[in-house]
Amino acid sequence: VLLCTLAVVSPKCLSDIDIAKVELEEYIDFKIPDINPRYRLHYHVTPPVGWMNDPNGFSYHDGEFHLFYQYYPYDSVWGPMHWGHVSSPDLVHWNQLPTALLPENEQCFSGSAVSIGDTMALMYTAHEVTDKEPYYNESQYLAFSDDGIDFYKYEGNPVLPAAPNGSPDFRDPKVWKYGNEWYVVLGSKTLDQRGRVLLYKSKDLKDWEFLTVLGESQGDMGYMWECPDFFELDGKFVLLMSPQGMKAEGDRYKNTHQNGYIIGSFDYETNEFHPEVDFQEMDFGHDFYAAQTTEHNGKRYVVAWFSMWEVPHVEDVDGWSGAMTIVRELTLVDDRIIMKPLDEMIDLRHHTIMHGRLRSHEVTALPQATELIVEGNIKQKIELYLQGVDGGGKVWVRWDPAVGKVVVDRGAGDVRRVEWSPIGSTTWRIFLDASSLELFCGEGEVVFSSRVYPLGGWKLTNLSSQSLKIEAYHLKRTVPA
Ligand code: FRU
Repeated sequence: VLLCTLAVVSPKCLSDIDIAKVELEEYIDFKIPDINPRYRLHYHVTPPVGWMNDPNGFSYHDGEFHLFYQYYPYDSVWGPMHWGHVSSPDLVHWNQLPTALLPENEQCFSGSAVSIGDTMALMYTAHEVTDKEPYYNESQYLAFSDDGIDFYKYEGNPVLPAAPNGSPDFRDPKVWKYGNEWYVVLGSKTLDQRGRVLLYKSKDLKDWEFLTVLGESQGDMGYMWECPDFFELDGKFVLLMSPQGMKAEGDRYKNTHQNGYIIGSFDYETNEFHPEVDFQEMDFGHDFYAAQTTEHNGKRYVVAWFSMWEVPHVEDVDGWSGAMTIVRELTLVDDRIIMKPLDEMIDLRHHTIMHGRLRSHEVTALPQATELIVEGNIKQKIELYLQGVDGGGKVWVRWDPAVGKVVVDRGAGDVRRVEWSPIGSTTWRIFLDASSLELFCGEGEVVFSSRVYPLGGWKLTNLSSQSLKIEAYHLKRTVPA
């Protein structure tokens, strides 16, 4: 059906999908006033209304960074996937843009974006519901934009119809260019349910040649590897992915699904990836999944879904669910990825709340959006207790030198814990927002990202027996209210 305006000279015809796009933006604007703001984040990307999961299409195009996300606008639970869209000049301040992809016969699952001159190309997974076992099918689609805002789907879709072994789980393409060729990694599994990552190459993004299985679980790394990414970092290659179905081992792999990486070497001649360091988690908090990276001016940035599958999403009763972590810069030190907050985060410091010592058992109030810098003697125990001024938000951050571990504890046994051996600085940087905590230990060698839900701002208590040096800054808003 084509609806044409009555302009006589040049009739402007709107297709069904164009009309659906206009109606969707009207719907979003109409629903925004219904959102309860109590847990809305001040400097993390969130959906304007409805549900958000994975970061998609994280890229730099025409002078700006773009970030898309898995999006269901009509409810604060997962539903038929759209791609939401924000852009940023600096990876810290974000502008909301119109929804980029709407589902038609296919749901628009995760994928990536590349810039080709003036054109922006998205490659994403078309997830289709079928009437035969296993009742879905996944293939890869392209969409293009000439202005970085309005996207149209390629008429030759799918460009990659099926996995080489016929597995229905074949998703989350991450594309990059090397020399004159495009490469893509895709998440998939073996027919006996072991997660794997596939590598393809293409001259034009449309015809793809299968190259190899880049990595595969030997049985102990889950049944499916979602959202792969593959990139060079400080002379090594990193295979980043989100394995589903890894079993918890002590303090490791305690989230519903995991996110982490394997460091190795790779040769573009032979397409062989040789792992050198076993799988490690990227972040040790409760809420970090489907991380995606992009590179610009020689720097590698990462962002992740700041939430998790199959856990309570406390904000969903407020008309929205899900967020992105702050963007971090990646470097490789020895055998570990270091994640650092961007330098631009310092510009968000609105004013100083505190600069001095917090004595043992002293309490101080902090705004919803606060950066804390904490320095103590790490030869002794450190314990911080954060809670909401008006309730909720209980979280303990601890360091015990006798065990050598940092702990982020949301109470009732909901604990994440990992070894910390500082590689330089021994201070902690803690980013608090209206419903989140991100703890960067030392140089960023250990990071925890966890959602917590305080009401009415934060109250910090120093539960250590030593006094702590504290700097606290109120942070400015960088996302739409
Ligand atoms: C990861 C994931 C992807 C998929 C998307 C669907 O969180 O399961 O594999 O493309 O979410 O929303």
